[in-house]
Amino acid sequence: MTPPSPLPDADELKPPPLSDAGRHLLSISDLGAEGIEEVLRVSDAFVEVASRPIPKVPALRGRTVVTLFAEESTRTRLSFETAAKRLSADVLSFAVASSSVKKGESLRDTVETVAAMGVDAFIVRHPSAGAPAQVAGWVDATVINAGDGWHEHPTQALLDCYTIRQVLAERAGRPVSESGVGDFAGLRVAIVGDVAHSRVARSGVLAFAALGAEVTLVAPGSLVPPSLEGWPVTGVSHDLDAVLPHVDVCYLLRLQTERGAGSFLPSIREYTAGYGLTLRRAGLLADGALVMHPGPMNRGVEIADEVADLPRSLVLRQVANGVAVRMAVLFLLLGQVVRGDATGTVADLGHGYGPVDG
Ligand code: CP
Repeated sequence: MTPPSPLPDADELKPPPLSDAGRHLLSISDLGAEGIEEVLRVSDAFVEVASRPIPKVPALRGRTVVTLFAEESTRTRLSFETAAKRLSADVLSFAVASSSVKKGESLRDTVETVAAMGVDAFIVRHPSAGAPAQVAGWVDATVINAGDGWHEHPTQALLDCYTIRQVLAERAGRPVSESGVGDFAGLRVAIVGDVAHSRVARSGVLAFAALGAEVTLVAPGSLVPPSLEGWPVTGVSHDLDAVLPHVDVCYLLRLQTERGAGSFLPSIREYTAGYGLTLRRAGLLADGALVMHPGPMNRGVEIADEVADLPRSLVLRQVANGVAVRMAVLFLLLGQVVRGDATGTVADLGHGYGPVDG
């Protein structure tokens, strides 16, 4: 068995800012730069855990986590469930579509029913903005926003920040665990596409800007939110070709036809002609520029097939990091390592425990 490698110093990890900010993660604004940095540093410990032969620790043994999804998901749901299981929590997977909600039960009654079974955390995805905040008002448990309508998707932004920080550390030839968030200062990020309907864009802008990046939105006028009040962006452009040579990160958004994006455009084909990252356009990027996408991708719409599979495309690395980042969020919110009546810190993952089975 590979021995655990050194982990962040326990003292540096106290106090967990997520716990300071409250018991919930509803928005990136709950964190601020310091909170984001703390999540990224704790995520380093869980990336290390993922490299172990048995990538599991007992940190949340005895805790119960519910994924309550009222909207489709592949990566967020599976990644939260994997994260919770790797922390040894018990996981209940609740799909609204196959629940008694279909018999007319209200969301509040449903949530209170599930909470009555003894739940420590609800991970909530819902098509309505603000639904996770409502759930937080109904139950004593911790609530994590896994994407609410057009509002926010905070853990997506955290895993994106983690991925950028990881790649920049690798390029600089230093361990990611020695990286703060200094690499974000002045980093030029273009967020491209259906900004108006995107919770990913909102959380991403807040997170990238909090860490010092300069964020430009690139979209047709009809897909830019009517007001950018509260969006800390450097600028807005309608000319992707002009922006691409000057960015360090090109972050593509999915065209969200299920939220009506198609009706804001003359045609999908015209959208792709103006704002899709085609192979020709990818050629305008600087050598080291990164391509990111939260998934699911519409290949051939916002991103060309060939571009999605380029080495500079971080799509699958984003997914892989999502597990460690969500482990960090659960760990910070649900308390520390449970050891009988005592608690420890994330450092105990390396020193107090080896991997566990089960
Ligand atoms: N990025 C994202 O939220 O993907 P899913 O909808 O598959 O969870």
